Amino acid sequence: MNKTKIICFANNKGGSGKSTTCSNVAYGLHLLGKKVLLVDGDMQANLSLAFLPEERVLALAEGENNLYAAVQKEADLAGYCVPTEYEGLDLIPASPLMSSLEYELYPKRDREFVLSRCLAGVRREGDYDYILMDAPPALGGWAMNLLTASDYLVIPVEASPWGLFGLANMFDFYRKACEKNPLLSLMGIVVTKVDVRKNYYRQTMETLGELRDVHVFQTCIRMDSSVEWSQDNSKPVMAYKKSSRSAKEYMSLTEEVEEIASGKKQH
Ligand SMILES: Nc1ncnc2c1ncn2[C@@H]1O[C@H](COP(=O)(O)OP(=O)(O)OP(=O)(O)O)[C@@H](O)[C@H]1O
Ligand SMILES: [Mg+2]
Repeated sequence: MNKTKIICFANNKGGSGKSTTCSNVAYGLHLLGKKVLLVDGDMQANLSLAFLPEERVLALAEGENNLYAAVQKEADLAGYCVPTEYEGLDLIPASPLMSSLEYELYPKRDREFVLSRCLAGVRREGDYDYILMDAPPALGGWAMNLLTASDYLVIPVEASPWGLFGLANMFDFYRKACEKNPLLSLMGIVVTKVDVRKNYYRQTMETLGELRDVHVFQTCIRMDSSVEWSQDNSKPVMAYKKSSRSAKEYMSLTEEVEEIASGKKQH
């Protein structure tokens, strides 16, 4: 049994809260005393920007110390971990060049498992309790690489009229990923960006409640301007404004994630 648990935050629907949830759960796990590695799997580099200032993200993206460079060379990711300001919370930053990964991976041997091979060393070393990966809003060969390398999938869904559109495609993609990686399981769906003044939340919860065998996290993440301010300051919201509503919500979500990943609770 692997000590290091790998969790991927994915949804083909753009803007559903993948990067925000991934960054804040990672910081929550750090607060729980876990060693965490973040893998920014999206060329938009939002996960990198959540922890590092823009100039540093741009410099890393232009250099050799990023996920694109590692995957292209099929290198061990252990050599690509960049420390953040939080001890025990490291990051492998993204690069805009990752936009070409789809076709660059194409001729490679077992192309769905390139990232898995890059992660094998880090996993074997067991230095990290958790590896959290952020996926792009797309379901292609690269997203498949992220899922074949993961133990768990978390799907953030936005409580909005179009938030559930395309979720069936995400499920189909997950099932295909399970055929390639039988260890993968859907940890659950987390409802994000809830505006309590609107009805979409109730509708979203009703629709999700009809899904069979899919866990929906008890914690929902409400809209909170502190989230955007924290991102503007390259900090997780729990570090930026600990007293904020969203800081408490992300911590509660982290506890749910940790209970499942550590086997304390069945999902
Ligand atoms: N709880 C929240 N309160 C307020 N704004 C939020 C909250 N969660 C996310 N946002 C905002 O919503 C937008 C989309 O969030 P995010 O980037 O995390 O989604 P995403 O799924 O990663 O997007 P993409 O598909 O582009 O990668 C961002 O501008 C983010 O600041
Ligand atoms: Mg994102």
